Amino acid sequence: MTVTLPILSFCILHFLMATSETILQCLSLNSDPSHPISVVTYFPNNSSYPFVLESYVRNLRFSSPTTPKPVFIVAPSHVSHIQASIICSKRFGYEVRVRSGGHDYDGLSYMAQVPFVIVDMFTLRAVEVNLDEQTAWVESGSTIGELYYAIAKKSKVFGFPAGVCHSVGVGGHFSGGGYGNMMRRFGITVDHILDALIVDAEGRTFDRKSMGEDLFWAIRGGGGASFGVIVSWKIKLVSVSQVVTVFRIEKTLEQGASDIVYQWQYVANKIHDGLFIRVVLSPVTRKGQKTIKAKFNALFLGKAQELLNVMNKGFPQLNLVLEQCIEMSWIDSVLFWDNYPLGTSVNVLLQRHDTTEKYVKKKSDYVQQPISKTGLEGIWKKMMELEKPVLTFNPYGGRMSKVSEFETPFPHRAGNLFKIQYSVSWNEAGADIANQYLSLIRGLYDYMTPYVSNSPRSSYLNYRDVDIGVNGLGNATLAQASVWGRKYFKNNFDRLVQVKTKVDPNNFFRYEQSIPSLASVSQIA
Ligand SMILES: Cc1cc2nc3c(=O)[nH]c(=O)nc-3n(C[C@H](O)[C@H](O)[C@H](O)COP(=O)(O)OP(=O)(O)OC[C@H]3O[C@@H](n4cnc5c(N)ncnc54)[C@H](O)[C@@H]3O)c2cc1C
Ligand SMILES: *[C@@H]1O[C@H](CO)[C@@H](O)[C@H](O)[C@H]1NC(C)=O
Ligand SMILES: *[C@@H]1O[C@H](CO)[C@@H](O)[C@H](O)[C@H]1NC(C)=O
Ligand SMILES: *[C@@H]1O[C@H](CO)[C@@H](O)[C@H](O)[C@H]1NC(C)=O
Repeated sequence: MTVTLPILSFCILHFLMATSETILQCLSLNSDPSHPISVVTYFPNNSSYPFVLESYVRNLRFSSPTTPKPVFIVAPSHVSHIQASIICSKRFGYEVRVRSGGHDYDGLSYMAQVPFVIVDMFTLRAVEVNLDEQTAWVESGSTIGELYYAIAKKSKVFGFPAGVCHSVGVGGHFSGGGYGNMMRRFGITVDHILDALIVDAEGRTFDRKSMGEDLFWAIRGGGGASFGVIVSWKIKLVSVSQVVTVFRIEKTLEQGASDIVYQWQYVANKIHDGLFIRVVLSPVTRKGQKTIKAKFNALFLGKAQELLNVMNKGFPQLNLVLEQCIEMSWIDSVLFWDNYPLGTSVNVLLQRHDTTEKYVKKKSDYVQQPISKTGLEGIWKKMMELEKPVLTFNPYGGRMSKVSEFETPFPHRAGNLFKIQYSVSWNEAGADIANQYLSLIRGLYDYMTPYVSNSPRSSYLNYRDVDIGVNGLGNATLAQASVWGRKYFKNNFDRLVQVKTKVDPNNFFRYEQSIPSLASVSQIA
C-alpha cells in the first residue's frame, strides 16, 4: 500500500514531463552516439515535420487536419535509432507505428487513436546484390522499384517475384505476403526470403538464427508490425529469361468481353505457369453508352512465338496475334506493367514519388468456383450502376497451388482460381464525398457475396481493409480479433497468436489489426 503510491506518482510525473527535451534525452541515451539521433528526430515544432509526415501518406483520406498526428517521428539512419525509439516510446507511454513505403490502404502505418510515434524507414534503403550467391540484402525502407533496379543493374537473367507498382515499400510488402506477375511460376515474395534482421519490443536485434523459426515464419506474411521493426531482408533471386513477352488487349462488352472473361476463369489458373494474364474491369462510356472495359495484361516468361502457341492452344477466345506481342527484357516488362510508355528509362524505378496521390479505398476477395455467365452479367450491371469501382482479377494456380497453406502465414494457395481487388478512387475532399464512395464499394462487396470464398470470406493482408474488423483500442478479445484474423490468415491465425504471445506478451506492438497476445488479451468472448 505504501509502496504503490510513490510508484504511481512517479509514473504520472514521468508522463507529464514528456517534453521534446526529455524525449530527446532518452533517445540519445539509448542510441549510438556516433550516429546522433537528434538529427533524425522531428517534433511538431520543427519546420520539416509536416513534410516528413506527409511524404509517405499515399492516401489523401489520411492527410486531413483532423487525421491524428504523431508526437514525433524518428527516421532512423542506424539500427540503434530503432532500438531507442522503441525503448523511449515505451517509457513515455506512446504506441509505435512503423512506416516503410506508406502504401497501407487504410493508413495504419502512420495513424493511431492514442498518442503515438512514427518510426519512418525511408533512409534505410540500401540494396546489396550478391550474384555469386544469387541473393540480396534489402533494407525495409527501399521500394520494390529500387530493388528491381539494383538487380537489373547487375544482371539480365535474374529477377524477383514481388509486386507491380514500383513505389511500394519493401517493409510492408514483404511482411504482408507480396505477389506479382511471376507468382504462377515462382509463388509469392515470402516464398523467397532467406533471412531477416528485426528489432523486438525490448529493443533487441535478431537475425533468423537468433529469432528462431517461429518468429521468422510469422513475419513472412503475418504482418511485420505485430512483432517488431524489420530492418532488412535477405532474399533469393529467381532466374528470368533474357527475353520475356507482354501484351495488353482491351475488349468491351460489345466486343465479347463477357464470354472471354468467362473463359478466362477456366484457363488462366491452369495454363502454362510462365504466363500471367490479369484482367482489369472498369465501367466506361463508349459512344454515349455505358459498358464494361476488360483489359487483359499479360507477362509471359519466354518468347512471343512460344506465347502464341500457348495461347492458341489454351485460350483461343482472346484471339491473340503476333503483332500484339512485345518482346523485351524482364526489367522493361516491369515498366510496361507499371504503365510506362515503351522506351522509358529504368531510372524511373528510382523515383519514390511519381504519381499524384488520390483518395482511395480497396477491398479483396478470393474466387474458388467460376462465376456463371449470368453472374458476370449481373456484376457488370452493378458496376455500371455504381460507375466508379474497378475490379482486378489476378489468376492463381501454378506454383501457388503447390505450396502448403501452412508454409507461411499467407494461406491463399491451392483451391483459389483468382483474387479480386476492388478499388475506388476520387479527387474531392470531404467526409460526405468519402462516405458516398465508401458505401459504393461496400455495396459492391456485399453484392459479390455469393460468388466468392466463404467461412471464412478471405482477404489479402496487403490489401488492408479495416471494414473486416479492428481491435479497437488494442484490447480486442481473441474472438473479436479472430474475425479479421481468419480472413487474412485462416487457421494460421492461431500460430500467429502463439508466436505473438511468446515474443511480445505485453502487446507493445499493437494497432488496429495487430495479432493479439494471449497474455494481454481479454478472454471474454
Ligand atoms: C499502387 C499500389 C500497388 C500495389 N501493388 C501490389 C502488388 O502488385 N502486389 C502486392 O502484393 N501488393 C500490392 N500493393 C499493396 C502493398 O503490398 C501493401 O500496401 C504493402 O503493405 C505496402 O507496403 P509499404 O511498406 O509501402 O506500406 P506501409 O504503409 O509503410 O506499411 C504497411 C504495413 O506494414 C507495416 N510495416 C511497414 N514497414 C515495416 C517494417 N519495417 N517492420 C515492420 N512492419 C512494417 C506497417 O506498420 C503497416 O502495418 C500495392 C499497393 C499500392 C498502393
Ligand atoms: C528539424 O529536425 C531535424 C532532424 O532532427 C534537424 O536536423 C533540423 O535542424 C530541425 N530543424 C529545425 C528548424 O529545428
Ligand atoms: C521545439 O521545442 C523545443 C522545446 O519543447 C525547443 O527546445 C526547440 O528548440 C524547438 N524547436 C524549434 C525548431 O522551434
Ligand atoms: C477497451 O478499452 C477502452 C479504453 O480503456 C474502453 O473504452 C473499451 O470499452 C474497451 N473495449 C473492450 C472491448 O474491452
